[in-house]
Amino acid sequence: MFRPILFLLALASVSFADSDKSSDPCAVIAGKSFMLPSDALACLKSFPFNETLRQNVLTDTISRVFDFYTFEDYYLDSPPPFQESTVNIRAALAAINTTKYATDYDFNVDLYNFVTRMNDGHTRWFPDCYTNFQNLLPAPIVSLEVDGIQSVYIIPDLVELIPLLGTNYTDLIKICWNSAGAKVISIEGQEPYTYVDFIAKTVSGNYLDHGRFGDLAGPTGVAQDSLTFELIAANSTKIETVTVPYIANFFGTNFTDRESYWANNCLANADTNGVDFKLSTELTFDTLPRKQPMGNIIDKSTSNGVGLPTQFEPTFPTVGGDQGVIKSYVLPGKKTGVMFVGSFDDDFTQFQNDTVSAITAFQKAGVTRLIIDLSNNGGGFICLGQFLHQYLAGARIGYPGFQSSVRANPLARKIVASDIELGLNDSFSFYTADNYAFFNGTQMSAADDYMTPDVTVVINGRTDVNSQRFHDTCNLTYVVPIPNNPPFDLQNVAIVSNGNCASTCAMFSTLMNEREHVKIAVWGGKPFENVEFKGMAGNQVLEWFDIDSEIKTANLKDDPLAPADLLVSGDFRHNWRTAWSYFDENEPIAYVSELPRFRFPYTLETYNNPPKFVALCGGNAFCISVL
Ligand SMILES: *[C@@H]1O[C@H](CO)[C@@H](O)[C@H](O)[C@H]1NC(C)=O
Ligand SMILES: *[C@@H]1O[C@H](CO)[C@@H](O)[C@H](O)[C@H]1NC(C)=O
Ligand SMILES: *[C@@H]1O[C@H](CO)[C@@H](O)[C@H](O)[C@H]1NC(C)=O
Ligand SMILES: *[C@@H]1O[C@H](CO)[C@@H](O)[C@H](O)[C@H]1NC(C)=O
Ligand SMILES: *[C@@H]1O[C@H](CO)[C@@H](O)[C@H](O)[C@H]1NC(C)=O
Ligand SMILES: *[C@@H]1O[C@H](CO)[C@@H](O)[C@H](O)[C@H]1NC(C)=O
Ligand SMILES: *[C@@H]1O[C@H](CO)[C@@H](O)[C@H](O)[C@H]1NC(C)=O
Ligand SMILES: *[C@@H]1O[C@H](CO)[C@@H](O)[C@H](O)[C@H]1NC(C)=O
Ligand SMILES: *[C@@H]1O[C@H](CO)[C@@H](O)[C@H](O)[C@H]1NC(C)=O
Repeated sequence: MFRPILFLLALASVSFADSDKSSDPCAVIAGKSFMLPSDALACLKSFPFNETLRQNVLTDTISRVFDFYTFEDYYLDSPPPFQESTVNIRAALAAINTTKYATDYDFNVDLYNFVTRMNDGHTRWFPDCYTNFQNLLPAPIVSLEVDGIQSVYIIPDLVELIPLLGTNYTDLIKICWNSAGAKVISIEGQEPYTYVDFIAKTVSGNYLDHGRFGDLAGPTGVAQDSLTFELIAANSTKIETVTVPYIANFFGTNFTDRESYWANNCLANADTNGVDFKLSTELTFDTLPRKQPMGNIIDKSTSNGVGLPTQFEPTFPTVGGDQGVIKSYVLPGKKTGVMFVGSFDDDFTQFQNDTVSAITAFQKAGVTRLIIDLSNNGGGFICLGQFLHQYLAGARIGYPGFQSSVRANPLARKIVASDIELGLNDSFSFYTADNYAFFNGTQMSAADDYMTPDVTVVINGRTDVNSQRFHDTCNLTYVVPIPNNPPFDLQNVAIVSNGNCASTCAMFSTLMNEREHVKIAVWGGKPFENVEFKGMAGNQVLEWFDIDSEIKTANLKDDPLAPADLLVSGDFRHNWRTAWSYFDENEPIAYVSELPRFRFPYTLETYNNPPKFVALCGGNAFCISVL
């Protein structure tokens, strides 16, 4: 049966009856959660370029935070297969410093794009004024294998997913639902996989490699109004050209007009800049848990606003605890247990309890094989990643993490020295040595100076000065007993994901690969292009608030090397620590290519249905050995 695709063409029309509103482009969109991208853009472009703000953001803050960035010198010539992410960071900043911009938006978007295109999800510039919007396309795509051939399709379950965005969204567009499952012939005139690659290179920016399906359907910002597709509807043979509109979703702070937009969303607020923790009344040492290091990416397309829904969470009945980020279930046949670990960003006790109850439930059910599903896991607490590795591999392996270090730039050295002089400890700072341990497992004392002597390495012809290396001290945070031996033979443990596995998730899967040699499989993604299973693998990330607080707490805000307070609301986050690979201790794991042993395309049946994609994975070597 042939049914034409008619969809998506009717757009909301904005009333200009109110002449005050039409002269203030921000008043036009005030109070709305969904709007046309062009209307949002008119508001954002109404703020003129301001040299004072450029110097504050670029020269006085961001370029000084880059001094702490572990990968700065690597970017001069990124090793294969990551060579595309090569850029001279200082030269790029200097160019942005001298470019003429018409508006504040143009400056910030140029800077945003430059940092995003470094493809390190730990290192991002988020100017809230311009990143509190997400553009939503009512036509998410996926790569599926149909009759043995992989192609790009509009998601088959469009009809179920799009209404989840609410009527404020669907009222702005007319959707003809038979576009669901349509085969995509081209996007913006390009072969669809080529266009997806272009988006991964220029828009998504979280991963050094990019065979993944990135942000086509939900990019940050309001840069584009529509995409033109050539489609063949399901059950048809006719190619139709359709222009699919984006609708912008605003998730910032309320405003009524241009002035209040700027005041509420663009200017620095009480939470923008760091604090001196010595003066903080919130530090009560009896109750305060230790400050915990984070390794994560901020993917505004999923973590903020109204992300396009995904259905990666299993629908099977779960076993063990399921209140947190872990959902566990037993596959039909009762041989294999699956732990879906959606994130490492969870309450410490909850995560550890849920791990124990999942493993206990699997053992009670007589399960002998274990699959860890890490699809769409953007990371979280470094110590929860190490905990899961330790729990699965047993206490007998000893230290469950990587060797780590920070850059020993002159200001970092001063921070450590000053923290020691002030008698600070890990309640105040991530720089004090008691956060870390010597290689023999002994926790360092807060008074140890691990910057002296420093460790000099030459990266791409530049001398890079690092601290001494150290271990994490995650076992101080374990609240459950760790079995001495692995609860499941590690030969019978496998990891699966869709390649979206960043930071702490990347570190966990890299440890499971490098040390435990578990099998890893990646589902989906672009065919004939490698996908690293470990997504973006940095280590601890510091938000702008965190590094600024380190400096203020060490009484060094007046140092000539210290970054200034931001005048605008925003976050410049950076990868602050390196994790060094077990395979080659001279290489950060971020630059060691580690491919999954198995790749599988999604099919119509398995797409977005983890139990099915695990259960139906067929007679290949991975499935035979795991299921
Ligand atoms: C829809 O938008 C209106 C304002 O335009 C708002 O009051 C209402 O809460 C929104 N509805 C939902 C479900 O977000
Ligand atoms: C530029 O921004 C600074 C800091 O917010 C402000 O004081 C100044 O008035 C602005 N300049 C112009 C010309 O608006
Ligand atoms: C930008 O230009 C100003 C003025 O020439 C200069 O003081 C500053 O150091 C430059 N900043 C960067 C990051 O190049
Ligand atoms: C395509 O045809 C199949 C079998 O006739 C039918 O089940 C399915 O609903 C059709 N799909 C669409 C989008 O019309
Ligand atoms: C923003 O608007 C919502 C709903 O219109 C309201 O509940 C909330 O209090 C407002 N927030 C501020 C900061 O004005
Ligand atoms: C964790 O498990 C312990 C012991 O079973 C229980 O007392 C505690 O309430 C649990 N905590 C959470 C957050 O699940
Ligand atoms: C950290 O320092 C505070 C303030 O001096 C002190 O109360 C606390 O006990 C110290 N923490 C540790 C673990 O020594
Ligand atoms: C561990 O190593 C440190 C630094 O070399 C040393 O001071 C400490 O005594 C060692 N601890 C043990 C238990 O050997
Ligand atoms: C943590 O692990 C190290 C070895 O990696 C060990 O020396 C130390 O005693 C452990 N600490 C705790 C509190 O378990």
